[in-house]
Amino acid sequence: MIVHRDNIFGLHRGDYSLLLRLNAYGLVELLHFGEAVETADWQAFLCQPGLGWGSSILLDDKDTASCPDSLPLAWSGSGRGDYRESPLELGTATDFRYASHEIIDGIVAMDSPLPQAKGLAKTLKITMTQPGAELNLYFTLFDGVLTRRARLQNTGDAPITVTKFMSSLLDLPGDYEMTTFDGGWIAEARKHRVPVLDSRIVNESTTGASSNRHNPGFLLSEPGATEDAGRVYGFNLIYSGNHYAAAQRSLQGLTRVVQGISPNNFAKILEPGAVFETPEAVMAFSDQGFGGLSEKMHRFVHDHIIPRQFREKERPVLFNSWEGCMFDFDHRRLVNLAKEAKSLGCELFVLDDGWFGQRNDDTAGLGDYNVNPKKLPHGLKGLGDKIRSLGMEFGLWFEPESVNPDSDLYRAHPDWALTDGFQPLLGRHQLLLDLTKPEVRDYIVENVGRTLDSAPISYVKWDMNRHSTALGAKAHDYILGLYEVLRRIFGPRPEILLESCSSGGNRFDLGMLCFGPQIWCSDNTDPMERQTIQGNLSYLYPQSTFGAHVSAAPHAQTLRSTPLCTRANVSFFGCLGYELDLKHLISIEKKEIQGQIELYKQYRKVFQFGTFRRLQGGWQVSDGKITLAATFRGLVPAAPGYGTLRLKGLDRHKRYRFRTNPQKLRIGQFGNLVKHVVPVNLNPNGVLLRTADRHITLPDGIQEMTISGAALLAGIRLLPVFRGTGYDKNQRTLTDFGSELYIIEEDSHEKS
Ligand code: DGJ
Repeated sequence: MIVHRDNIFGLHRGDYSLLLRLNAYGLVELLHFGEAVETADWQAFLCQPGLGWGSSILLDDKDTASCPDSLPLAWSGSGRGDYRESPLELGTATDFRYASHEIIDGIVAMDSPLPQAKGLAKTLKITMTQPGAELNLYFTLFDGVLTRRARLQNTGDAPITVTKFMSSLLDLPGDYEMTTFDGGWIAEARKHRVPVLDSRIVNESTTGASSNRHNPGFLLSEPGATEDAGRVYGFNLIYSGNHYAAAQRSLQGLTRVVQGISPNNFAKILEPGAVFETPEAVMAFSDQGFGGLSEKMHRFVHDHIIPRQFREKERPVLFNSWEGCMFDFDHRRLVNLAKEAKSLGCELFVLDDGWFGQRNDDTAGLGDYNVNPKKLPHGLKGLGDKIRSLGMEFGLWFEPESVNPDSDLYRAHPDWALTDGFQPLLGRHQLLLDLTKPEVRDYIVENVGRTLDSAPISYVKWDMNRHSTALGAKAHDYILGLYEVLRRIFGPRPEILLESCSSGGNRFDLGMLCFGPQIWCSDNTDPMERQTIQGNLSYLYPQSTFGAHVSAAPHAQTLRSTPLCTRANVSFFGCLGYELDLKHLISIEKKEIQGQIELYKQYRKVFQFGTFRRLQGGWQVSDGKITLAATFRGLVPAAPGYGTLRLKGLDRHKRYRFRTNPQKLRIGQFGNLVKHVVPVNLNPNGVLLRTADRHITLPDGIQEMTISGAALLAGIRLLPVFRGTGYDKNQRTLTDFGSELYIIEEDSHEKS
């Protein structure tokens, strides 16, 4: 609901409100953003500057309340007395004042190819003007989430140069801590939380993409906020390019937050009549801690960002050829792998890099779309048909934005590569194609489209493996070009499941999610690392957006050996896949994987779309009736204490059947302590133990009970962990990096 009374706008939806006031000077003040309140109570939120502020500038010399530097604003100017961060820079002063407004039922469509949130909404459009320019501010109300964006039109007769244009500006009263998600390749989404003080804190990417260095999503929380309590704001941007966000506290105790395209080297010339619009910024508030905030963001991404046709569609369990084969495969090897994958329960076989041109390693072939006839003598169609005849879907990897200098495409069109006038700089032996050129976009659309139509392909992994050297407006135009290409390829093929990827999670953002519902989180599939990566991404993105695969141990990135069950228990909380050479699996591993996939399929809807909650030392997903909870261990301490599992969101008055998902222990894990298990002394390096390890498993402890929701919410005691006293089937004996999965189902028979 959007209420307009006199000079007050009350924007209300569900449990949040935004109150704006048009002040006497035509500036838009932000009175409140957060808890649901009444429009009529607006005066309670008024910041009254009192006697003015020393050396500050006043808009009206006679009015001490007219100091723009001390007002809580929803937008501001440059060079006109507000010395805090400006949302718009044109090289000259900017001083936009209110002109008109409109309340619109629904969203307002973008002029440019930028993606935006869709669905039931109401929008307030405020138009502000200054001589020669018109500014539109859009405030769109979705369930649980407010989006904001801005649009600038040159209404004068001289060009305007835009050097900075934010999507949103907010002045929030109070002290906050800012949480950002930073990292790099194989180390995505490291969480950092710092207090917002009087110096500016910036969360920005300049690599041409949203980047693995700084995810565009971030949080502001009041000091003391926890997972389950306290006031937390979440922010994100529906954009895949260079982004910028900053927070800074003012002397008056207002924290200014801006979000938008990075102004780094940005300069966009707007000719008379031309329009420039920002990406859509996303913001939400919760007074129920980080968990409450995440729940809102998850629902928003699910309901308003990912393509409608995938919202409730269960994603297939996939097998991906990359980590097992790299570039070394042919039709026969792939078909054998597909047969194995099928026997394990996989539903989709994905052929990754290496199927085209001279791409036998990463130095050549990108840009060429002709299938390598040596590797695939029956073509993609022959391979795809064969895979489908085995009862699986077929998926294919592409990296359409890049070109290797050693490729037919580059030899024919060296000018299609993105250059900056200097000697081209390579990343992973490749250049980016200049997607700002229409002929390049046409080439990609035609070739990817033709390939997709040439074989039964139901899934695409769209990769991009280098940072860009494009700056500012050029980098932005590149992203607009990418969005156009994605729309032209996948618009007419809505049934294709698109998983985007960029050296893992180098482009994990809401922009890409508007085109495909899942993203490859990271090339790091070590489950201990994935607990960090997926766990931290979960602050802002739902688990259905995570491509999460079980891979080999020791792990390629960390050399760490982890139990197979932990690799699966982590990947279950996402879109499950397997990515390893299946030829090397021994029969007990195959059996274990079959069991994993069976279980995942049984509870897939809950794993992928259930309400995700972070627990102390684990995760849970729940659809109300069924809850799946995993607990993860790091290094096992000697003499570990009692373990407690405290679930969330259950009905305290209902009863639930609680059970451990059975897991197996490899006998080899005991080494010379195998005497704990069998009353003989075996050589830990001997053939006997090695052979036994391939064939014999022991059950790990299982806990089963029917119990009230109240007890599960209070926290139940788990089975003891191994304490140096020998194997006991009533304890949890999994060693370092062990984990358990618990299945909790509402008991329909008993009522408390
Ligand atoms: C980087 C991706 O993240 C990997 O999963 C794989 O697809 C390789 N590229 C292939 O080159």
